[in-house]
Amino acid sequence: MEAFNHFLADINRQLVSASTDKERVDVAGDTLKTYITRPDFVHSCIERCLMTMQNGRSRWRNPQIAEDIDAGYLMRMLFWPARFKGDIHRHNRWTVTGVVSNAIDAILYDDAGEKEVKRFSGIAGDIGKVVPPCVHAAENVGDVPAVTLAVFCRTPKSQQFGDEVEWITETQEGKYAAGIFDRALRAFIFMINHSPTERSLHLLDTIYILARPSMKLLAIKAMARIDPIRGLRRLEDAYHYLDGPDDKAQVARAAQLLREAIRA
Ligand SMILES: [Fe+2]
Repeated sequence: MEAFNHFLADINRQLVSASTDKERVDVAGDTLKTYITRPDFVHSCIERCLMTMQNGRSRWRNPQIAEDIDAGYLMRMLFWPARFKGDIHRHNRWTVTGVVSNAIDAILYDDAGEKEVKRFSGIAGDIGKVVPPCVHAAENVGDVPAVTLAVFCRTPKSQQFGDEVEWITETQEGKYAAGIFDRALRAFIFMINHSPTERSLHLLDTIYILARPSMKLLAIKAMARIDPIRGLRRLEDAYHYLDGPDDKAQVARAAQLLREAIRA
C-alpha cells in the first residue's frame, strides 16, 4: 500500500479515539510528524496532487488531495510563493500543518488580527498545531517557494457551527493563485530532486506531460540525472514543442551533450 494510504489509515485510527480538539490536533500532528520527512510519503502526496491536475492549469484550483468527512478532515498541499505573506485569518476548528519543502513562518496575532504576538519559523519536517480560537497568518520569507501539507477539520456537522475559517484580511488571494499550477510543478521537481525514490521517473514523466515547454526542460534535466536514456528520449520529444529557434538550438545542443555522455 502506498505511504499516503498508510498515513490515512493511521490518522483515521487515531482520530476515532480522540474526543476533544486538543486530542485531535495532537494525534493528527503526531501522525503527520512521523510521515512528513519520508520521501515515499512526499512522493505519494505529489502523485495525489498531480492526479488533480490532469485537466490542465486553467481549471486547477489547488483542491484537497484527501477528504474523509466521517473521520473528520480534509487535506491540501499549499504552495507558498517566495517572499509572500498570506492573509490573516481566524481558525474556528482545529488544524494541523506540516512543512514539506523549504520553510514557512507562522505568525500569531491578537484576537482582532491587528497586532503580531509571536512568530514561529518552521522548516521541512516541522509541524504546527492549531487549536481554536487562533488568529494567524503564514509567511514565506525565503527566496524559493515553500510547500506545506494542511489537515483541516471537516465533519458533517462542522458547517452548522459557523465558518471554519474567517478572513481578517483579504488582499493576498490573487497573488497566491497567480501561477500556482506552474509553481506547484516546479516545487515537485525540486522535491523529487531532493529526495529521489523509485517513483521519481514516473512522477517526472507526469510532470513533463503537464508542464509548459520551459518547465518540460526542468523535468527532463531531473529525469536525465536518474536515467539519461529516458531523459534523451524526452528531450528529443520536447524539441517539437518549442517554437523559437534559440530554444530549439539550445535543446539540440543539450541532446547532443546527453548523447555524448551516454556514449562515454
Ligand atoms: Fe491557517
